[in-house]
Amino acid sequence: DHGNRARLLAANTAAEQFFVERLGSPEAEIGRRFLGERGFDAEAAKHFGVGFAPKSWDALTKHLRARGFTPEELSAAGLVSQGDRGVYDRFRGRLIWPIRDVTGQTVGFGARKLLDDDQGPKYLNTPETAIYHKAQVLYGLDLAKRDIAKSHRVVLVEGYTDVMACHLAGVTTAIATSGTSFGVDHIKVLRRVLGDDSSLGEVVFTFDGDAAGQQAAMRAFAEEQRFAAQTFVAVAPDGLDPCDLRLARGDAAVRSLVDSRTPMFEFVIRHTLARFDLETVEGRVGALRAAAPVVAGIRDPSLRPGYTRELARMLGMELGEVTRAVRGAS
Ligand code: GTP
Ligand code: MN
Ligand code: MN
Ligand code: MN
Ligand code: MN
Repeated sequence: DHGNRARLLAANTAAEQFFVERLGSPEAEIGRRFLGERGFDAEAAKHFGVGFAPKSWDALTKHLRARGFTPEELSAAGLVSQGDRGVYDRFRGRLIWPIRDVTGQTVGFGARKLLDDDQGPKYLNTPETAIYHKAQVLYGLDLAKRDIAKSHRVVLVEGYTDVMACHLAGVTTAIATSGTSFGVDHIKVLRRVLGDDSSLGEVVFTFDGDAAGQQAAMRAFAEEQRFAAQTFVAVAPDGLDPCDLRLARGDAAVRSLVDSRTPMFEFVIRHTLARFDLETVEGRVGALRAAAPVVAGIRDPSLRPGYTRELARMLGMELGEVTRAVRGAS
């Protein structure tokens, strides 16, 4: 209900202020150092509302209880967990990113651990609540929405630090999902940003150049035909993500990463073909056998002939032979 929703938003706003204040505390030195090492100065941290959760079981709980929030409200907002003897702070000793909805209201938090020895996952997010649905969350959308609506383009990155790096580098259409893969619910959220009559022209996925990033690209391709947008992949060299890339090579390198995007189909086919030696007949036959199901799986039949030609070109094989293989694979 609306009353509850408003209370959860109020609790999150108060929590965010608390976290931001604490980033200035002596205990948060490790958090400030982390930001500095990632190329984020105090102004950047402030712009994105980055904060720090002290290593305490009850610092936030006490702070918000003193401001009139009940343990039930804190629990419903996902700010605390339920223990045997009452509630305790969910985020402890972590750097905090407020996650805002399209209107700029903080609906949840992403929290990174700062020491390898600390318990829990590297990133801990707000659990599902009445106002936080991870399948719909697009981090950075409040900042990116104007340029997304103007350009009909979206740059999807993996992490909060990547969104920050992209925006600081001038890629202002960058957004990220939050601990989940990009899906149809995210597309619905984007449609609302674009308005009813306009469509999303282009989605650029900039996955990490590591094995997990490659896997994510393959997963995205399996979904891509549901997006009704042209999809591209941009992978940074040497396993870097956009944040690392900006650190190593500067803002211009982040911008040219996005400019050098590859159509998703080409990326996936190349990834598939990379396992084969196309200099040999055996290699080409094996590659065709592996790639034909990818083309056969393209849902829109009107797109298949074009992609079949593309595959024939990449393999250096006759179109008739590739067409037969694609038909045989469907
Ligand atoms: P560092 O550079 O090591 O800080 O990490 P990163 O920001 O590059 O993050 P990484 O590439 O490991 O992950 C990108 C995004 O995936 C993060 O921003 C999170 O949203 C999500 N993620 C990563 N690790 C976890 C995890 O342990 N749990 C959850 N829920 N999400 C995670
Ligand atoms: Mn809801
Ligand atoms: Mn990664
Ligand atoms: Mn990173
Ligand atoms: Mn990364």
